[in-house]
Amino acid sequence: MEASILNTFYSPAQLARWRGAVPGRYSCRGYAGAPDADQLAALSYAAQRVCLPGTRIEIASCTEDLFVRVPLVERIHGTDQYAAIIADMEQSLPRTLAGISGEAFVLEAAALGVGTCWVSGTYRRGAVNVKLSENERVVAVTPLGHAAGDPPQKRRRKKLSDICTSAPENWPLWAYQAAEAVRQAPSAVNLQPWSLSYGQRTLRLLGRKADSLDMGIAILHMAAAAGGSRQHWEWGEGKCVAHLIVEEEK
Ligand SMILES: Cc1cc2nc3c(=O)[nH]c(=O)nc-3n(C[C@H](O)[C@H](O)[C@H](O)COP(=O)(O)O)c2cc1C
Repeated sequence: MEASILNTFYSPAQLARWRGAVPGRYSCRGYAGAPDADQLAALSYAAQRVCLPGTRIEIASCTEDLFVRVPLVERIHGTDQYAAIIADMEQSLPRTLAGISGEAFVLEAAALGVGTCWVSGTYRRGAVNVKLSENERVVAVTPLGHAAGDPPQKRRRKKLSDICTSAPENWPLWAYQAAEAVRQAPSAVNLQPWSLSYGQRTLRLLGRKADSLDMGIAILHMAAAAGGSRQHWEWGEGKCVAHLIVEEEK
C-alpha cells in the first residue's frame, strides 16, 4: 500500500482546531454579509496553508448569480465572497485531495466564525472568475459570510451503527470518535456515501468511489478526530479508500 501524504502534512494544532470546529459547522445558505477584513485575511492565509499539493483554493468576489436556485432548498444569498476549490486533474485522486483540502478550509472558516456551504453541482461554471492553468478544474465553490439566522437544531444523518460494519462501541476510543466525526461530515445531497470497518488496529474508510470530494471530506474528519495521536495513513484498494492506524497510548 502506498503511504499517504497525510502522515506528515497537517500539524497536531491544525487537527485539534478542526476537531473543535466539526460540531458547529453546517451548510449555511442565508448570509447577513461577507466576512470582515480580518476574517478575509485569515481565510486567505488558511487557503495557502491547508492545500495539499495539486490543490488550490482561491477567494474571490461574486454576485448571487454564481449560485443556481434549487427547488425546495434555500437560495444561497447575502454575501459577495466565495472560495473556489481547484484540483490539478493530472495528479492521482484529484477530487479526494481537493475534498481533504477544501474541508480543512471549511473547518478553518467555521473556527473563525465564517459560514460556508460546499457547492459542487448547483453553480454557474461561467460565473467563476478565477484563472486556471491547463490541467486545473474548479471542483466546487463555497459562499463565505456571516450566517443569518440560527444553525439548524439537528443534523440529518444516518445512525452510527448504520455506517459501521461492526459494533463501534467495541472499538478503541480513537476509532469510535473518528467514525462519529465522519458521521457528522457534509456530503453531496447528504448521501453519506461511506462506511467504516475496524480490525487489526486499523480503521478503514469504505466507499464505492475512491476519487470523490465526499471521501476526501470523510478522510479529513477522521484525521481531525484522531488528532494528537500518532497517525499512519495509507491509501486503500478496491472498496477501501484509505486506512488509518493510530499508535495507541500504553
Ligand atoms: C461535495 C459536496 C457537494 C455539495 N454540493 C451542493 C450543491 O451543489 N448544492 C447545494 O445546495 N448543496 C450542496 N452541498 C451541501 C449538502 O447538501 C449538505 O452538506 C448536506 O445536505 C448536509 O448538510 P449539513 O452540511 O448542513 O450537515 C454539497 C455538499 C458537499 C459535501
